[in-house]
Amino acid sequence: MVVATVILLLACAAVSNCVGPDIYSDSGNPVETCHVNWTYDRTNKTHGSFCWDMFAPTCDGERQSPINIETKKVTFMFFDPKYQRNTNTLTGHIKMAERAPKFMIDKKKSSFILSGIPFHSDKRFRLMQFHMHFHEVNVKGSEHRVDCEGHDGELHFVHEEISSMNDARTSNNNAGTRNANKVVLAIFVTIDEKENKTYPGLGPFFDNLKNAVICGTDKVSGESETFTVGPLEFLTTPGNLYSYEGSLTTPTCNETVTWLVRHTPVTVSRAHFEELLKLKWENTKISVHGNVRPPFPMNDRKVYTNFKVRNEKNNENHNGNNNNENNGPTCTEWYESRVCGTESDDDDDN
Ligand SMILES: *[C@@H]1O[C@H](CO)[C@@H](O)[C@H](O)[C@H]1NC(C)=O
Ligand SMILES: *[C@@H]1O[C@H](CO)[C@@H](O)[C@H](O)[C@H]1NC(C)=O
Ligand SMILES: *[C@@H]1O[C@H](CO)[C@@H](O)[C@H](O)[C@H]1NC(C)=O
Ligand SMILES: *[C@@H]1O[C@H](CO)[C@@H](O)[C@H](O)[C@H]1NC(C)=O
Repeated sequence: MVVATVILLLACAAVSNCVGPDIYSDSGNPVETCHVNWTYDRTNKTHGSFCWDMFAPTCDGERQSPINIETKKVTFMFFDPKYQRNTNTLTGHIKMAERAPKFMIDKKKSSFILSGIPFHSDKRFRLMQFHMHFHEVNVKGSEHRVDCEGHDGELHFVHEEISSMNDARTSNNNAGTRNANKVVLAIFVTIDEKENKTYPGLGPFFDNLKNAVICGTDKVSGESETFTVGPLEFLTTPGNLYSYEGSLTTPTCNETVTWLVRHTPVTVSRAHFEELLKLKWENTKISVHGNVRPPFPMNDRKVYTNFKVRNEKNNENHNGNNNNENNGPTCTEWYESRVCGTESDDDDDN
């Protein structure tokens, strides 16, 4: 097994288009480990994260992720997601895929089955992998925002549906009831400058990043050894959550995700965060452009919460005037003013 892997990795290094046999994108399709067609360079008008719809039309859909959560507009609702699991810890390995370090969970060793999801209470979702979004220090590295505030990073725990008894659309509540075949639990991450502490259980993930250098870089090693992460208390007790219907945050941006966004961030030490900043993709540091998609318009969606949001920022503005205007910051101005396409498209005179 080890020998086979080594041979594969060497073959990987020899050809520029290295397709791993066991790498799958968030959308379930096999992905090339050394190359993707798209980039987070926002100035790139054909493949940059402002313009992915140039080659993947769904990326300009009505229900895209991430979003900015406006706390004065959320709707309180009871929901209580819970795991059925065979162990407290997650066993797996890190694999670089889609410009992010991914912890691929060994399903035989760690079975985490999630239920109790808003509008999908009859469905069960298996935890498959988690990965991290980040940017250079001083640039916000979270994908979601809350009242336009970002954090240093964001972990995504990706779950796939394993059973479906009834379509949620048959219920008479038609808010947010699209078919979801994924649930992503987003955990905000902040650098702990005071105490230098990484959230209990997450340390091994950051310690092992140095062992997951991708093909095409100075080291030929696509994945780390198997190791164990956890226990992670936020999986046992998810706590205060926002929930809404959205999409994958990488192409092809399929609108099949129910999001759970945890209100309270977890911490990571600066030393651990800096391990992320060293990671490379095709010989360039990921942190240069980051791997953070900007927030997309809400359109006609709603955000539900399982807790009473204390509206810190907008309290003094509250005047009972709950009209349809989008008051306040939305952090989606970039969307209105974006320019996509090639010059030759503009000049096209056919
Ligand atoms: C995502 O969308 C693409 C393009 O429409 C489709 O080919 C692919 O099968 C979808 N994947 C999933 C998991 O729905
Ligand atoms: C990358 O882009 C090229 C040209 O647009 C296309 O032919 C190819 O299928 C794309 N590859 C992937 C993996 O999307
Ligand atoms: C945009 O990104 C694509 C894919 O990474 C790349 O091939 C192309 O050269 C980039 N264009 C510019 C103008 O940087
Ligand atoms: C934080 O940790 C790093 C290395 O882990 C150490 O060099 C530094 O002195 C620590 N800072 C504080 C304030 O404890």
